[in-house]
Amino acid sequence: MHPRILKKLATDTRSQHCTRMLTAALLVAASVMSATAGQFEETDRTNPSALQDDANPAAIRSGELWPDDEGVHINAHGGGILKHGDTFYWYGEHKAEHTSNALVGVTCYSSKDLLHWHNCGVALSVTDEHGHDIERGCIIERPKVIYNNVTKKFCMWFHLELKGRGYDAARYGVAVASRPEGPFKFLYSQRADAGTWPLEFGEKELAVVDTLNAANFKQEWTPAWLKAVDEGLIVKRDFPKGQMSRDMTLYVDDDGKAYHIFSSEENLTLHIAELTADYLHHTGRYTRVAPAGHNEAPAIFKHDGTYWMITSGCTGWEPNEARMFSSTSIWGPWTQHANPCRGPKAEKTFGGQSTFILTIDHSSLRSGAGGTPLNNEHSSSISNVQSASNNVQSSINNVQSSINNVQYIFMADIWRPRHPIDARYIWLPIEFEEGKPIIRWREEWKPDF
Ligand code: GAL
Repeated sequence: MHPRILKKLATDTRSQHCTRMLTAALLVAASVMSATAGQFEETDRTNPSALQDDANPAAIRSGELWPDDEGVHINAHGGGILKHGDTFYWYGEHKAEHTSNALVGVTCYSSKDLLHWHNCGVALSVTDEHGHDIERGCIIERPKVIYNNVTKKFCMWFHLELKGRGYDAARYGVAVASRPEGPFKFLYSQRADAGTWPLEFGEKELAVVDTLNAANFKQEWTPAWLKAVDEGLIVKRDFPKGQMSRDMTLYVDDDGKAYHIFSSEENLTLHIAELTADYLHHTGRYTRVAPAGHNEAPAIFKHDGTYWMITSGCTGWEPNEARMFSSTSIWGPWTQHANPCRGPKAEKTFGGQSTFILTIDHSSLRSGAGGTPLNNEHSSSISNVQSASNNVQSSINNVQSSINNVQYIFMADIWRPRHPIDARYIWLPIEFEEGKPIIRWREEWKPDF
């Protein structure tokens, strides 16, 4: 039976638990059968996770299925959010049933309240053109979109791996659109900053780089090798062809300058690269963060003049302990802090890996700059207090963040590499304890609207 028919079946028999279970089994069987025949159809509608009763979620429940307004689990992984006008747009990787490779492209969902999401379709499509950078079957990860106020364009950056080359290419890709939901036009992909040294490499540092030679290291991961990586061993290796660019995010600062933050140097060092005024290229100014520190999955926000960056270690799809860094300048120096997560599985980022931190400025929403006036803020905070997993302290912090008019939401992915389409989301509010961000697990909560 075609999965779409089964989806219909599932919708028609909402209240009948047994039928639903049977349908689920049939759906999985159908998907396995069609996959075996090599002809499974990878669209949003064939998702067995679509067996949701609830297309109207009452709260954010991290780790659970998150139905869109058609009851289908949201398919926008490793994503990021852009607020434009009074609408939030969620861009992410479309994941297929049996592969993490890009068979569809980057999806886009829209919402007014961060809870109820409408599927706007595919924002950036892969192509069937043989040899194209974004040929179907390539790897597209961690897409992020920012809006350029001057050009009035939506600029998408993502991590790209060329089809059939594993994770070797280590490129970033750039696409552009005139409307938030796309279609985005692919512009180019490349390695980063070829022929350019990081800002902090002055005469002294370059003299050390001159002495570095990979052939001197019979073994990697020794203290001497890590020191050489710190000093620029891999920057030097990749200097002619460009620096590797994998896990990434984008950040637009208060002054309108934008930055591309990505795992480079075999995922050993993060780079922060300044973007040109049109947000479509690097300017060539870049800095290294935590050299040889092995960080992935960067997500960033700025609070009271301090930049906070949350990252993960490098264990592929497996979760590990989150790391946190701060700096009062985007150019560093960056200081490392303890894991900000609190609660069950805090030592494994609650089973997830960071992808984005959303800043919501409620004062701009209320002043009309963003369009939608807020409901009574304090009554929404009070209902937050009631639903915040009996955690009085965190509820107080929530009220506090409303009073400050700015809320930060930490977003992470719980990957399911054997069934990628079924990957889950973690969204949790960021609170502050002794001046530092913390992320407390909550079974369910609602953003302050
Ligand atoms: C993770 C990374 C993901 C994906 C995965 C592949 O560490 O954050 O975006 O690249 O590895 O194994």
